[in-house]
Order: sequence, then C-alpha cells, then structure tokens
Amino acid sequence: MEIDGPSGRLGARWQAELAGWGIPQAIVDAAPRSPWGHRPDNFIRRTEGLVEAPSGPLYERAREALPPGGSVLDVGAGTGAACLPLAKEAAEIVAVDVSAVMLGELAARVPPGVGLVAVEGSWPEVADRTPAADVAVCSHVVYNVPDLVGFLTALTGHARRRVVLELSERHPMTWLNPLWEHFHGLDRPDSPTAEDVAEIARSLGYRVRSAVSAASDDHYHSLEELADRVCVRLCLPADRAPEVARVARELGIWPAPRARWVTLWWDVL
Ligand SMILES: C[S@@+](CC[C@H](N)C(=O)[O-])C[C@H]1O[C@@H](n2cnc3c(N)ncnc32)[C@H](O)[C@@H]1O
Repeated sequence: MEIDGPSGRLGARWQAELAGWGIPQAIVDAAPRSPWGHRPDNFIRRTEGLVEAPSGPLYERAREALPPGGSVLDVGAGTGAACLPLAKEAAEIVAVDVSAVMLGELAARVPPGVGLVAVEGSWPEVADRTPAADVAVCSHVVYNVPDLVGFLTALTGHARRRVVLELSERHPMTWLNPLWEHFHGLDRPDSPTAEDVAEIARSLGYRVRSAVSAASDDHYHSLEELADRVCVRLCLPADRAPEVARVARELGIWPAPRARWVTLWWDVL
C-alpha cells in the first residue's frame, strides 16, 4: 500500500476500520462451524436471475462501455453475477476468484462461443498472470479487501475503457449488528462505507461517478434460511435457529428490507 499522500492515509483508515469487523477469538474458538466463507447457492440464484433478465446499474454502465466483441474482467467473480449477464455482448470473460468452487459454477454457465479465462487466486496477487480487458467489473468484494488502494490500482490497470464496482452502501454484515448485540453483547462497527471507497478511488485520480439503487434481490428468501445463516455467522449452534428466527422478527430484521447498493464507475483515460 502507498504509505504517503491522501490515498495512503485513506487506505490505512479503511484497513483499520475493516479490522474492526473481526470476531473476538474466544467466540471463533467456540464456534461449531466456521463463521467465514460463502456458499455458492445464493450466488447461483442471483446469477441465474440476472442472466435471464440482465438489469441494474452495474450491467448498464459496463455494457455501454463494452465494444462489440469486447472482453470483461470480473474480479471476485463468484458464480458470475456481474460478468455473465454481459456475455451476450462480450467475446471473452476473464474471471478471477479465490474459490475454485465458485469459478467452477461460473464456468458451467458461460454460453457457447464466449471464451473464458479463469484465474484462481487472490487479487491483486494474481494480477500479473491475468489478462487485461475492455471493462473491469467487481461486485460485492471490496469489503473483503484490506489493501483497497492496491486492489483498485491493479483493477484499473487491467481495464482499457472502464471500471465498474458494485457494493452495499454499508458493510454487508451491518444488518447483523443488533443480533450480535442480542446474542453476544457485542457492539459492532458502522464503518467503513461505500463513500469511503469512492473517496479512496478519487484520491487515486479516478473521476468517479456513482448511483444508488435497491438491491437486485432478497438475499434470503425465507426466515428459516436467514436464521440458519445467522447461526453460522454468529458462531451459534444450528439448534438455536428457531430462537434466532424469533429474535429476528422481534428486532425487525425480518422481513428484511432491501439493502441499498452503490455503483461506482470511472473511465480509463
Ligand atoms: C460476496 S461474493 C460476490 C460474488 C459475485 N461478484 C457477485 O456479485 O455475486 C465475493 C466473492 O469474491 C471472492 N473474493 C473475495 N476476495 C477476493 C480477492 N481478493 N481476490 C479474488 N476473489 C476474492 C470470494 O471468493 C467470493 O466468490
């Protein structure tokens, strides 16, 4: 990370604030299952919905910058929710993800005639062996990234025309905060936010534009599904799911309001 200058200072603040989202070691040690990681199923559902009916600010901003027969780089691609809806316009998709399982699900959904370069590994460490593309997209990844300055610099360096990011307005675990308070007596952070990402991007000299929209879907389709996932995230045993469901209702976490998402984009000059 660049240490001096505005981006160094903002990057250091970002990193410190993200670290505040760590779970106390004693709670992790007592967890019946790892609280980290993503299951592909929710992402597959969202990907398939968006492939069937491409829409939303990320899709629109990426599509308008994509030349006919162009290429899309998707970093933290998951099962392909950001890049696969663009496959009708693109000749090549470059997908980067640390998870081989996610990349396998994505590869199975690439339409015939579209090339796929799948790069398994962590961005920006794998940037040197990743081809550049016309448009780089990155959706719902940046709150996982401590060195955001290095991440955005490498992403922009791999885009010939435009970079488009999609992220939640607040940290994606913010909705769990009242449940952490209830079940563990823990006060959780409320930063960083999407505005911090925009500020870091501007400090790097990018001419950032932004749009706010409602999330494209409900992440959980039933209270049971939500309670099950909350048990994992909060390091609780699975048999506490009924209690979690009751408390989620009492605290107004269910029915879940649609999250607000932010799209940030800049052209590469
Ligand atoms: C929340 S999922 C989002 C997936 C997809 N972009 C979407 O919008 O549905 C985050 C994905 O980013 C991947 N990921 C997180 N940090 C990464 C990094 N530094 N480099 C590459 N992949 C990363 C995870 O493995 C996961 O598949």
